[in-house]
Amino acid sequence: MKKATMCKTVKVRVPATTANLGPGFDVLGASLSLYNELEVSIAEDPKKAKFVVAGEGRKILPKDERNILWKAMDAVFMLLDQNDKYSLKSFNIKLTNNIPLSSGLGSSSAARAAGIIAANQICGNKMTLGEMAQLGVKLEGHPDNIIPAFYGGVCVSINQGNDVIDVIKLPIPKIKAVVCTPGFELATERSRNILPSKYDRKDVVFNISRVALLTKAFCTNDFKLLQEAMQDKIHQPYRAKLIPVMQGLIDAAVKEGAYGACLSGAGPSMIAFCDNSKAEKIAKAMAKIWKKETVPTKTFILSFDKNGAEKI
Ligand code: HSE
Repeated sequence: MKKATMCKTVKVRVPATTANLGPGFDVLGASLSLYNELEVSIAEDPKKAKFVVAGEGRKILPKDERNILWKAMDAVFMLLDQNDKYSLKSFNIKLTNNIPLSSGLGSSSAARAAGIIAANQICGNKMTLGEMAQLGVKLEGHPDNIIPAFYGGVCVSINQGNDVIDVIKLPIPKIKAVVCTPGFELATERSRNILPSKYDRKDVVFNISRVALLTKAFCTNDFKLLQEAMQDKIHQPYRAKLIPVMQGLIDAAVKEGAYGACLSGAGPSMIAFCDNSKAEKIAKAMAKIWKKETVPTKTFILSFDKNGAEKI
């Protein structure tokens, strides 16, 4: 733990993330250039404390103790023995959300990371980045979204047990990430519950080899490897029951020149990696598939974020 320095207003910016990258289920993740912002200040009068949400989720997110951002702040206060000192009413909280909720873009990780970083700063920066990330994984349940939210870039998370996560950062790819988000939410729990609890050895071996190939693609900037490297047999085939157009979206993106495409996290967003010159066409092709199903979409042409969550 580091030495304390007191701080009363905190602003934090946290990136969206995409987990799995195809085969790297619960292991690989990357942060993207789409951000939520949080501002927390000490409320002079607890009776006038405000919790405001702007942007995504403003109408539906709870603005009370049930909010996962607050729960993450509270977890830090408990860990640092400051929970007698602070309650929700101690703060004015303003959250500006650009990451769509329950869309496979790490909105819950972003909220938790923002809460942890803000609370740690309020307590005088006692926790290291590693300690904050560790707490984030504990709250989130799996590391592949929240680790890149903290560390930035493309991350391999290695769960050592006992809440210890080793992180390997791969080089930041200088390619675009085209995200196509349909206008419906898919709860991560539902998308995880559809997965089997046991797998055939050949499917596991298939995925291990693709993860190795994928790390090679990112380490050598050989993005032509991605089409094969992003193949998966342990979550996407099962989740296709929830998103029947999944393969059509992948095929459309590849046809328009994407290096590869996959489900983003637990879905329902899909993500394609490509050169800048192909991005617009890929976004349109993916949106068109959903349009045929009369599902509206949002598309984002993003870069890989380098820094992860930052104080601003
Ligand atoms: N690896 C997780 C999943 C990411 O695919 O369920 C969702 O947070």
